[in-house]
Amino acid sequence: LLILFITPEIYPLSKTGGLGDVSAALPGELRRLGIDIRVLTPGYPQVLSGLKYKRKIAEFKNLSQFPAATLLSARLSTSTAESIPIFVIDCPELYQRRGGPYLDEGGRDWPDNAFRFGLLSKIGAILASDASPLAWRPHIAHCNDWQSGLTPAYLHFHQGQKSASLMTIHNLAFQGIFPSDSVAQLGLPPSSFDMNGVEYYGDLSFLKAGLYYAHHITTVSPGYAQEIQTLPLGFGMQGLLATRHKNLSGIINGIATHEWDPANDPDIVRNYTSKTLSAKSLNKQALQRQMGLVVNADIPLFGAISRFSYQKGYDLLLQVAPQLVKIPAQLVILGTGDPELEFKLTLLANAHPGKIVVRVGFDEALSHLIEAGADSFLMPSRFEPCGLNQMYSQRYGTPPLVHATGGLLDTVVDCTPATLNDRSASGFLFYNMTANELLATIKRTVTAYHDKKNWRRLQRNGMAKDFSWYPSAAAYREIYLSLLR
Ligand code: ADP
Ligand code: GLC
Repeated sequence: LLILFITPEIYPLSKTGGLGDVSAALPGELRRLGIDIRVLTPGYPQVLSGLKYKRKIAEFKNLSQFPAATLLSARLSTSTAESIPIFVIDCPELYQRRGGPYLDEGGRDWPDNAFRFGLLSKIGAILASDASPLAWRPHIAHCNDWQSGLTPAYLHFHQGQKSASLMTIHNLAFQGIFPSDSVAQLGLPPSSFDMNGVEYYGDLSFLKAGLYYAHHITTVSPGYAQEIQTLPLGFGMQGLLATRHKNLSGIINGIATHEWDPANDPDIVRNYTSKTLSAKSLNKQALQRQMGLVVNADIPLFGAISRFSYQKGYDLLLQVAPQLVKIPAQLVILGTGDPELEFKLTLLANAHPGKIVVRVGFDEALSHLIEAGADSFLMPSRFEPCGLNQMYSQRYGTPPLVHATGGLLDTVVDCTPATLNDRSASGFLFYNMTANELLATIKRTVTAYHDKKNWRRLQRNGMAKDFSWYPSAAAYREIYLSLLR
């Protein structure tokens, strides 16, 4: 089975969120299952410098039917990262710049994102068809999020031999919407600009193209697969997704259990297991000290790490934080994103020295220490296609407090007398997206925290859960096989 996995980010070369983690871990697990999966990704500066021993294997000069790129030349090089074969697109005009994969240094979308990811999609389609310059030809083009959403459309219109296509939705809120004149610039046929095609309320939508033309669609949890078929979480695509429900599956993400393992984590102060949980407190102490919080083992410490965006519900956290510190409890937040949220959260921390700290930035090592050092992990997400941190948290004995949505609801079991009894309890859920309910659930968590015996149980339940990639990778393999039939 040969699979081309097309993704705009892959950890550790590039990462803005969970997609980066998944793009490394899922192909890794699929290779262990004997599948020849290779990853196609853009050559941002950190990707090119992070990949050793690159070998040039193809050159694209005048990409036919891709007028936007006629002035560009793109090289394709190959290398491996963590034993995964990578194809990297080296196109300096589009990818060699300072800033992030999607945003410039000022946090604005790159103005030429249609071409930057049009090229990713186009080269994906070329490699998955008889137009490919390579001998290696995949059976399936596995696309991820809007940045590779045009691949299924290009493949659909390609006259000749071609692979089947699978579109995975990691986040329906990002749709890759561009003005209608990009349809011609990207070499899509005029006939595709239709309600039954790539058109979305008068614009071109990369994601809709993928959802419309892919042979099968997956998303990253069973719960989210249901939610996106209706409003509000369908974000305008609910109608299309509902008509495609027979070709839509939800497969929960796993986690990289070797990287997120409290027993073997080089980024934390003291390693521990479910049998040596008392050593976890040394991580709490170190985290409190390092972040400038009052060092006190008895005050419950909540952690939070994420992109600062409307999705993640930090507006609610801002409302309840002043009451949270009065309980008393402490709060440590790591994240970056929306400048207004960065500003408001920083003000919040300044108003509560020693009790709330906010670290603005992206810091992989600190994120591990927070998972290990916090007592409970907060994810008040408005919606969450899967979410990874709630799984990391359970594995670190840091019961998560989450909004009951998408993958959070699928992976966290609310702590009640009954679930404590049957040993399934692993965290705390709140159902209505209101500040009052969040605060009430924080208080419920703190009460549970002070009940030491039951808290240990809760921690151990979470630590005993299996979040490994194997079952999910096996589910992807089933879908690949069904696409070959
Ligand atoms: P999303 O993909 O919506 O951002 P996920 O929960 O799937 O959310 O994945 C987010 C990933 O990114 C996690 O591994 C999380 O630890 C990481 N992450 C997010 N923000 C930061 C940050 N500021 N510093 C370090 N890691 C971060
Ligand atoms: C997205 C989602 C997140 C998911 C991740 C990886 O960015 O917001 O919930 O875990 O993709 O699939």
